[in-house]
Amino acid sequence: MIFLGPPGAGKGTQATRLAKDFSLPYIATGDMLRAAVKEGSELGRAAKEHMDAGRLVPDELILAMIAERLEAEETAHGFILDGFPRNPAQADALGDTVDRSERRLAVVLLIEAPDDVLVRRISGRRVCVKNDHTYHVDTDPPKHEGMCDQDGSRLVQRDDDKPETVRARLETYHEQTEPLVDYYEQRGLLRRFDGTRTPADVGDRIRATVATLRFEEAL
Ligand code: AP5
Repeated sequence: MIFLGPPGAGKGTQATRLAKDFSLPYIATGDMLRAAVKEGSELGRAAKEHMDAGRLVPDELILAMIAERLEAEETAHGFILDGFPRNPAQADALGDTVDRSERRLAVVLLIEAPDDVLVRRISGRRVCVKNDHTYHVDTDPPKHEGMCDQDGSRLVQRDDDKPETVRARLETYHEQTEPLVDYYEQRGLLRRFDGTRTPADVGDRIRATVATLRFEEAL
């Protein structure tokens, strides 16, 4: 399953919940890149300038980073992707990997919301320094201000969540990632969700869609 949508649409929020519900590995390229930046690895150093500018990290770095994960034993019974693929070249590469391992993509879950909603929403996002658990100061606040409910670590704003970087990320999305909507629609895989609804409502609709797909598959 693939989550697609602009920055701040709620992909991470919904994908982590679905991964828990269906006990599937959750693979988020943004989280993997932020971990590499934190470690100060070669990949992290190469990726940071692109992330801070709101641009995509070059495909060769992304494909090298994700290849091992997609072919790992833990993904044999399925996986949930968040933030990958992000352009047609990455989608072609994913298609090849899936075909090679005789698996198939089940569904692409597109969460949509207008740019002005996304800019406002992202400005209220807070993430924990330890595990990237995500909150929102208004819509999903932690029980204790500034502290993660799950691991007790400090909550901070992401480096790329400043308004000017968010605008650049949205432009990158519209130019480079949005063509994937047609790409997957033509393949009959796309399902659309209104990301302006509450997180619980979006989650219920996604779960209903996935349950229906599983039911149809079982018939
Ligand atoms: P990445 O980490 O993937 O960021 P993104 O796609 O910009 O998505 P976000 O994490 O900002 O948003 P989200 O949709 O997950 O929203 P969330 O659930 O957190 O990528 C970061 C960077 O890494 C990229 O810019 C790029 O440079 C690089 N990169 C990553 N993958 C790459 C790739 N494949 N190729 C090249 N470069 C790559 O929700 C947002 C906020 O809203 C939260 O506070 C949440 O609590 C709240 N919220 C969620 N849902 C709702 C709702 N329904 N109503 C109200 N509030 C809500």
